[in-house]
Amino acid sequence: MRQPIMAGNWKMNKTEHEAADFVKELKPRVSGISNCTILICPPFCNLSKVHDEIVDSNIQLGAQNLFWEDKGAFTGEISAPMLKSVGCTYVIVGHSERRQYFGETDETVNKKIKAALAHHLNAIVCVGETLEQREKEQTFKVIEKQVKEGLKGLESSDFKNIVIAYEPIWAIGTGKTATPAQAEEIHAFIRKLLPKEVAAEVRILYGGSVKPENVKELMGQPDIDGGLVGGAALKADSFEQLIKY
Ligand code: PGA
Repeated sequence: MRQPIMAGNWKMNKTEHEAADFVKELKPRVSGISNCTILICPPFCNLSKVHDEIVDSNIQLGAQNLFWEDKGAFTGEISAPMLKSVGCTYVIVGHSERRQYFGETDETVNKKIKAALAHHLNAIVCVGETLEQREKEQTFKVIEKQVKEGLKGLESSDFKNIVIAYEPIWAIGTGKTATPAQAEEIHAFIRKLLPKEVAAEVRILYGGSVKPENVKELMGQPDIDGGLVGGAALKADSFEQLIKY
């Protein structure tokens, strides 16, 4: 049985104050929920503060990125042990915005995943095609490459700490969601790419304009195990509705 995950990716949003206010508002609204992993991924500078606020709650903490070395002369970077030390249990790796604006490749994604796993962080590995790739019917090829190269060298036992997020780039922040059938087609394809012995256990999230109006239908698909949510996770009210789909 795969436990659903509703993950809020705040991207570069919220000051420390705003982050704390959000959690104070969300916490009592979702306190009874145990059948869904609730995850918040704030900017690095708010991780400690959010961690203080979620102690003793059912909300988990994730980061949006990490570097693959543990420490050293890597100005501006943050390592897996640092994320662990402020209470993170998850980290997003290879978000399309990281790939697009910060030059991340399947190779760097692979190194980051391995660093996360080495420090017992769950890695949420993002994959997804551009609109141009979809229109040129390259979606399956693109996704297969991202999944295979991103997860290269992993052992079967590593997959208990792997979550995959399918986020078609044309659906991110655009209001344009993949139809449940479009998403399910890719989710089922991704599951087939995973090692047979673990495929049924790995959670595959959908991301790209998930909102209260479409969450139920998306979550009704057999291979969609949750959402990686940007815009609709910035307000406690709409994030609560997603969690309670
Ligand atoms: P969105 O972002 O929900 O605002 O489309 C999703 C994401 O990029 O993770």
